[in-house]
Amino acid sequence: MRVPIIAGNWKMNKSVDESIELANAIIRGAYDVKNVDIVLCPPFTSLSDLSEMLADSDVSLGAQNCFWLNEGAYTGEIAPGMLKKAGCEYVILGHSERRAYFGETNETVNKRLIAALGEGLKPIVCVGEKLDEREANKTFDVVRDHVENGLKGVTKNDMENVTIAYEPVWAIGTGKNATPAQAQEVHAFIRELVGKIYDKAIADQLRIQYGGSVNPGNAESILKEKDVDGGLIGGASLKADSFLDIIKKAASAGK
Ligand code: PGA
Repeated sequence: MRVPIIAGNWKMNKSVDESIELANAIIRGAYDVKNVDIVLCPPFTSLSDLSEMLADSDVSLGAQNCFWLNEGAYTGEIAPGMLKKAGCEYVILGHSERRAYFGETNETVNKRLIAALGEGLKPIVCVGEKLDEREANKTFDVVRDHVENGLKGVTKNDMENVTIAYEPVWAIGTGKNATPAQAQEVHAFIRELVGKIYDKAIADQLRIQYGGSVNPGNAESILKEKDVDGGLIGGASLKADSFLDIIKKAASAGK
């Protein structure tokens, strides 16, 4: 059985003090939640403080990106080994905002992925189509391209540490979530594709999160879908109440 994973992608929000306050409220609110993996992905500047705070809790720490080399003259980049040493267990890779604003491609996502896995991080790889691509019936082509090329060279063993986040770009930060049926359709497609690339056992254990305007009002119906194994939450992860509400809905999704 797949344990649902709810990750909060704080994006470029929360100073160190604000991060500590939010993380504290989440740890307190989630202490009795069972059977959900909870991950907080604050900005880089808050990682080391949160790492200490989360050490005695069941909440895990993640970063929002990493580079593909472990040291050198790469101003502004953060190495996967540094994240690991700073206490990160997870790292988000290939988020659509990175693809749209910072020139990420399948190739660079793949390089980061291989490097992150090499350092023992658990990557959350984001895939998903833009609105014009959905309207042109290209959703499956785009998702296939992101999955096949993003995962190139990832071994079966390493797949145990990979989570895929299906995030339709048109649903991110827009308040316009995919319907549960739309999410399920693409999640099932991704699972089948991973089954073809690897095998059924790998596909069956793979966790596929949905992301894009998940909130306390729509979380339950989306998380109940058979192939939806949690959520990557942006806006609603910035307030303890709404994030905890989504976590509790994942815990009671009953799958
Ligand atoms: P959102 O962001 O929940 O604010 O739509 C999700 C994401 O970008 O991961």
